[in-house]
Amino acid sequence: MMLHTLSLTINGLVEQVSVPAHLTLLQLLRETLALTGTKNGCGAGECGACLVLLNGEPVNSCLVLAVECDGAEVVTVEGLTHDSRLDPLQQAFVEAGAVQCGFCIPGMLISARALLDRDPAPTEADIRAALSGNLCRCTGYVRIVNAIAAAVA
Ligand code: FES
Ligand code: FES
Repeated sequence: MMLHTLSLTINGLVEQVSVPAHLTLLQLLRETLALTGTKNGCGAGECGACLVLLNGEPVNSCLVLAVECDGAEVVTVEGLTHDSRLDPLQQAFVEAGAVQCGFCIPGMLISARALLDRDPAPTEADIRAALSGNLCRCTGYVRIVNAIAAAVA
C-alpha cells in the first residue's frame, strides 16, 4: 500500500507519520497515536463525538483525511489540559455534573472551547447554537449548557 508522509502538530507536539490515503484524521488520532479521547460515534459527520480543533476551527475528524492535515495544527481534548491543570471548561463540566456516560463530552468541550476562543462572552443562545452539531444521548443538554455558561461567568 502506498503511504504518504506528513508532518503535523498535535497538542503542541510535532508528529511525523506515514499514512495511507484513505486514513481519516480520527483514525490517525485514535489508532496510530493512541489519542483515544476523541470518540468515534457515527463516523458520518452527524454526532460531533470526533470533534477536534484543526487550525483553530472545530471539525469532525471522521470527515477529514489525515493527508489533508500536512502542516496543520490539531488540538484534541487531551490538549485542553495544560501542566495537569484542567481547562476551565473541563472544571466547569465537573462542577456542574454535566457528564453522564461521557462519550459526547470530548466533542462538547471542543465545541465550547472553539466558541469561547472566538467569543469570550457568549449568550445562552450562542452556546446552544455552538453545540448544535453535538449529540448527547444522556444528559438532556441542560447541565452542559449550564457548565459552559459557568465557565464564562
Ligand atoms: S464520529 Fe464524526 S461526527 Fe460522529
Ligand atoms: S453524557 Fe452520555 S452521550 Fe453525552
